[in-house]
Amino acid sequence: MHAKSTFKTVSGAGAETMKRLLFELCGEDDGMQVSLMDAALAVAELSNDPGCIKKRRRAAEAWRKISSLLAHHLLTEEWDLLPWAELRKGISHGLIERIGQQHRKLHELGKDVNALSFESDENEKVARTARAFFEFVVNLDDVIAGEQRDLFPILQRVLFREGPQAPAAILPSRP
Ligand SMILES: [Fe+2]
Repeated sequence: MHAKSTFKTVSGAGAETMKRLLFELCGEDDGMQVSLMDAALAVAELSNDPGCIKKRRRAAEAWRKISSLLAHHLLTEEWDLLPWAELRKGISHGLIERIGQQHRKLHELGKDVNALSFESDENEKVARTARAFFEFVVNLDDVIAGEQRDLFPILQRVLFREGPQAPAAILPSRP
């Protein structure tokens, strides 16, 4: 076990539950990557022309799509998948910690975008927040690429090793 936990919970879930979650998270990543391309374009246009109502509406719609997908995704990873992964042999603490830091950065950037009124805030604030939104998109793209490259393949190997006889799921209750 690692000396210091990065996450708030300790997951007692079994391998079958984790396989299901991993499968779902991979699908959500694919969905988010499609939305990210739309968002990057919408935000680039908005930052050049923050007074345009059409561009504001398009960026607001892109944010609504990404943030609704991401809220569930991050919650599942932070409350179920990562606490479980943190206790497994063969998964480096550095990797889990890096993902924790990336998630914290996404939460921070997301707060700025959430606080914006796409309809009524002044142009200067919209342009400034559009840049935070763009940074959010770039960071999320990196996080997804990193998961698919580093985390998910390791988890698959660990799950294969633990096999179907692993204990049944007792997931912690969420806030
Ligand atoms: Fe993810």
